[in-house]
Amino acid sequence: MTDPARARPRENPTPEGVNPPAVRSPKLVQGIGFAFFRRKAMRNWIKRYGRIFEINVPIFGRSVVVSDPALVRAVCTASTEQLMNVQPNLGNWFGPGSTFGLDDTRHRDRRRLLAPAFHGQSIKNYEKLIVDETLRESANWPEDKEFRMLDSMNRITLNVILRTIFGADGSEGEIEQLSEIVPPYMKLGQLVAFLPTPPFPTGRHSPWGRLEELRKAFDRIVCTLIARAEADPSLAGRNDVLAFLLRNRHDEGTGMAPQDLYDELLTLICAGHETTASALGWAFERLRRHPSVLAELVSEVDEGGSAFRRATILEVLRVRTVIDVAGRRVRAPNFDLGEWRIPRNHTVLVRIADLHENPEIFPHPERFDPYRFHGSKAAAPTWLAFGGGARRCVGADFAIAEMDVVLRTVLKNFRIQTDAAADEKSYFRGIAHTPKLGGRVVLNRRT
Ligand code: HEM
Repeated sequence: MTDPARARPRENPTPEGVNPPAVRSPKLVQGIGFAFFRRKAMRNWIKRYGRIFEINVPIFGRSVVVSDPALVRAVCTASTEQLMNVQPNLGNWFGPGSTFGLDDTRHRDRRRLLAPAFHGQSIKNYEKLIVDETLRESANWPEDKEFRMLDSMNRITLNVILRTIFGADGSEGEIEQLSEIVPPYMKLGQLVAFLPTPPFPTGRHSPWGRLEELRKAFDRIVCTLIARAEADPSLAGRNDVLAFLLRNRHDEGTGMAPQDLYDELLTLICAGHETTASALGWAFERLRRHPSVLAELVSEVDEGGSAFRRATILEVLRVRTVIDVAGRRVRAPNFDLGEWRIPRNHTVLVRIADLHENPEIFPHPERFDPYRFHGSKAAAPTWLAFGGGARRCVGADFAIAEMDVVLRTVLKNFRIQTDAAADEKSYFRGIAHTPKLGGRVVLNRRT
């Protein structure tokens, strides 16, 4: 329960609204709590101040943290004149041409350009590819021996996104090279994504120097792939994302500048694979410990159904939130949020994980219970795994479809051994939250 004595608003009321209560501990303590013990710190702050409060932390500065559903809805539906994307954001890492780095008209245009590649029929076209990649990776899985599912899921989702984006035919060599470059790029990038680039040379062995080298190698390979696609006489009939983007550019005449295209392709690859792999890692981590859910999923797969699997995916994304925060920056002189007033240049952080763990929305939130979503929808502002509003995840439908096909393929071909192992803790890689031990499982082949 919120302690009412401590949850009083700050002392500087304005005529129309008051600033949210500010966390009182020193900035350094708040920064350490936010960076290294976020879940615990947030729980304590919610208990003490309520579901809206202000923290002051390195990188994001004065930030209002929100996890009340009505206030979250107001953040998600605010206009871009009121709230812009959080600063700094992943555009720092992927480049200024990335969706993450865009706002206003450029952001809307980019979303319009990307939408057809990640919807409906397009996703159906990728299904066979996802099955093939899952079978290819699982061919070498050991039996009766514990191993890390997360590593396999990372390989599957990386191969899937690379082939979804570039198409597989005739580009195997380049795709192979990209699959070597992307993992170290992701690992380093997550470490420094939100840090300012040092204003002095850091040398090629520093994280920034190494990132720059990897980025150059990425651009070189992608340049070859784009040139090949542009020269392809069958471009009009191709289903890959690059073909969509090039065709739209040609049709509308106002498509992406070359550097924007490079930045966006990198964005889709990086944003699109590790997030989905982490969610899949958590799915296996949960199933190992929930025999009745697993048994029901297996019978459903055998009967050709999918509704319970879909509910399970939504519940995994709730109970083990992969991206725990969606951020915005106040652009208007003030942003009025319910009874609260937030000044310009403040950050607004929607705490997705705390929404998902709110017992008033999800009774016994710690329980893994796919029945919560069986036959019912998971929607904003209470279920927010993919964020909300104009910046909701571009790849949400794609990610759910990919998780669905991977789970179905694994359950069809393998029996997962269940036991009472302790839950895996969460490990924060800088952007995504993953199972700390890698979602370890023991499997047998089904005959
Ligand atoms: C389980 C997997 C995934 C999760 C949990 C996830 C989660 C998120 C979240 C929370 C956001 C921020 C939304 C906001 O600010 O309101 C986001 C944005 C984004 N995601 Fe995902 N994502 C996933 C998979 C994907 C995939 C597969 C792709 C692409 C293929 C993708 C591409 C993007 C892009 C481009 C944005 C930026 C959207 C914008 O700023 O307009 N994500 N995602």
